[in-house]
Amino acid sequence: MDSGFTTRIQKEACIGCGLCTEVCPSRVLFLEAGKAEVLEADCLACGHCEAVCPENAIKAAGPTPWLRGFAGFEIPERPLPPGEFDAGNLVGLMLSRRSCRNFRDKEVGQEVLQDLAGVGVTAPSGTNSQALCFTVLSTRQAVVEWAEGIGNFFRRLNRLAGRPVLRLLLKALGRPELHNYYLNHYQSVQGALAEWEQKGVDRLFHGAPAVMIVSSSNNASCPAEDALLASQNILLAAHSLGLGTCLVGFAVAAMKKDPSLARMVGIPTDDTAYAVIALGYPSVKYLRFTSRKEPSLRFKA
Ligand SMILES: Cc1cc2nc3c(=O)[nH]c(=O)nc-3n(C[C@H](O)[C@H](O)[C@H](O)COP(=O)(O)O)c2cc1C
Repeated sequence: MDSGFTTRIQKEACIGCGLCTEVCPSRVLFLEAGKAEVLEADCLACGHCEAVCPENAIKAAGPTPWLRGFAGFEIPERPLPPGEFDAGNLVGLMLSRRSCRNFRDKEVGQEVLQDLAGVGVTAPSGTNSQALCFTVLSTRQAVVEWAEGIGNFFRRLNRLAGRPVLRLLLKALGRPELHNYYLNHYQSVQGALAEWEQKGVDRLFHGAPAVMIVSSSNNASCPAEDALLASQNILLAAHSLGLGTCLVGFAVAAMKKDPSLARMVGIPTDDTAYAVIALGYPSVKYLRFTSRKEPSLRFKA
């Protein structure tokens, strides 16, 4: 299959140092007559060779090469070598990000949303497949319309889960999911639906003015991991750009059971959505770090 990946070596510029052959994860680069050569068929186009070449003699690219600046911030001219970014600032950012459930009534601009998608694709992806799609609901109205669709799904689910004979019969037949849902979520979902209907309180997206759905092609080698790694990058970048975010697992679960919800917002048909991120400017400021569970850490020498 033609992946569309290309790795071009400018022979005149190549000095035959061999650094590219050392960093190539697929071992498709080799030296011949003092110049780098590539076996393109197995190349991932990960760009390690291009990034390491002291003579800038290599261009590695996927089918739709893309590298652009960001509208809201500048990136350094060169990659930061290991150890040259302040770990305290990085971990401070990680610790400062909190799930936001209190949003201001202020739209998130298109450029910011584009920047966040651009941040998403900086994440690693299995076999460099980069098969991500970012579907953005950029107005509160679009968010509310989708929330209505998801609300209808949970209304139907709660009607089923509210039937004890049905859920216990399914459980006896080895399908305990509905019973477990009843035990863990039925009551709170019932309450959230009532609040939505009676008071317009949005317990699903927490009143967010925008939502970003991160999906990945089912043909990718590690679609779930790719989408979730991209999502974490987006959460951190959003925080540094002044935005609050909240992952909404209820929306992901609803899409899994009812594919019409993914179609409703135009997610590609051969994609699966792994993360739904509520986004907006926060109306609450957090003043101190809070604790986490101690990591379970085991060493084996
Ligand atoms: C996979 C996943 C799904 C989540 N789903 C929801 C959700 O549906 N609604 C919500 O309010 N928070 C959701 N959260 C946020 C968690 O509740 C939150 O991350 C956790 O309480 C820790 O708080 P923090 O994110 O502020 O550090 C989800 C988080 C993850 C990782």
